[in-house]
Amino acid sequence: MTRYQHLANLLAERIEQGLYRHGEKLPSVRSLSQEHGVSISTVQQAYQTLEQRQLITPQPRSGYFVAPQKAQPPVPPMSRPVQRPVEITQWDQVLNMLDARNDKSIIPFGGGSPDVTQPSLKPLWREMSRVIQHNIVDVLSYDELAGRRELREQIARLMLDGGSVVNADDLIITSGCHSALSLALLSVCQPGDIIAVESPTYYGTMQLLRGLGLKAIEIPTDPNTGISVEALEMALDQWPIKGVILVPNCNNPQGFIMPDARKRAVLNLAQRYDIVIFEDDIYGELATEYPRPRTIHSWDIDGRVMLCSSFTKTIAPGLRIGWIAPGRYYDKLLQMKYAANGTNVPSTQLAASNFIREGHYHRHVRRMRQIYQRNMEIYTCWLREFFPCGICVTRPLSGYMLWVELPEQVDMVCVAQQLCRMKIQVAPGSLFSASGKYRNCLRINCALPPIDKHREVMVQLGEAVKVAMAWDESTAHLKR
Ligand SMILES: Cc1ncc(COP(=O)(O)O)c(C=O)c1O
Repeated sequence: MTRYQHLANLLAERIEQGLYRHGEKLPSVRSLSQEHGVSISTVQQAYQTLEQRQLITPQPRSGYFVAPQKAQPPVPPMSRPVQRPVEITQWDQVLNMLDARNDKSIIPFGGGSPDVTQPSLKPLWREMSRVIQHNIVDVLSYDELAGRRELREQIARLMLDGGSVVNADDLIITSGCHSALSLALLSVCQPGDIIAVESPTYYGTMQLLRGLGLKAIEIPTDPNTGISVEALEMALDQWPIKGVILVPNCNNPQGFIMPDARKRAVLNLAQRYDIVIFEDDIYGELATEYPRPRTIHSWDIDGRVMLCSSFTKTIAPGLRIGWIAPGRYYDKLLQMKYAANGTNVPSTQLAASNFIREGHYHRHVRRMRQIYQRNMEIYTCWLREFFPCGICVTRPLSGYMLWVELPEQVDMVCVAQQLCRMKIQVAPGSLFSASGKYRNCLRINCALPPIDKHREVMVQLGEAVKVAMAWDESTAHLKR
């Protein structure tokens, strides 16, 4: 982090803690430069950053003042999906998203990639070259079917932070979380089975269900507290549901952390109706609260929760390292892994294991949590500034995604197509619904640093939304 960013963060914290109150004058550039032993231009850059984040406002010839408190946009209400099993649609849209991922000329606001440009990842590069230099035979040999033991040992230690007590023998390494979820579903489900999901839910999981010939039943989900336990119980009463997929910690796309009481209530339901919980904890380590939130798996006593995760969001997607604690389905899962893809690549596993053991992982994740939280604050300010009135925005204390609900008449699928021509990729809400609901919603990836280029994209996005609203109003008479 540069000096000015450090100073900007320090001042932002003081504003948040109320040490400088709204409307109050901030110290002069000169006095801050003396107080912190930094140059005048460093202080000026720090103030410009805070101005961009709309935390302070300059007043000609008077200096900088803490900005007046603005009303936050409201959080979206509980979702209301169609509550019956449906075939999953939206594959073409998802394919477009995936295709755009490797086009460097596109600004990927719609994807889910983390920021992999931070210096705290440098030790990982070193570990990668060290592993290749010193473990060449291991690197070029077949891996153990369950994955490298030293990595499983490190992961078992990390899982303790979420309350899950497992050892290396309870874990299986997979090629990412997607593969963990896929093997988990293959181990328990048959084509035609019904799986309950949060609504909205991550589109990759939804397409996985489609690929395996499963049906989804979308359950109403609250952007603050997660899946409605009551609605899930009603669905379980009505349909032969095999299991439920949940992202209870730092949810994608809504960012909530389910309160512990609700997590336990879902587990009770799973026991009563004898279903499996597929718990996706991929973002769990990015929660800003300490200790990090518990997993549902941590309360599981009969091995019915299959905990799936990966280093995709906390380190980098390119590692392709995920894992699963499959509980009572361990043997079946290992067999499925062998059948589906055999063993994994040893080199990245060895490098990741050293990266964690040497303490670099914790340092990196600590840093990323702060960066993502600040990014989300800035993006929320931009949404407030550049978007029309009447939007709702989630207020996550974790992860790096914002879920935005726009006025009913805005069709984000059309807006996304227009933006695509301008080389801007966004994720319309319909991707996150089995039946294509939430066309007036949008997910924003705040892992993209809030630099001028991205601010400009938010301006264009806001303009496109306003045009869509105006167009709808001007053609409303034709629809009547
Ligand atoms: C909630 C969730 N689960 C699973 C995945 C897939 O993760 P991986 O890239 O590790 O396979 C993602 C990726 O975006 C995700 O957001």
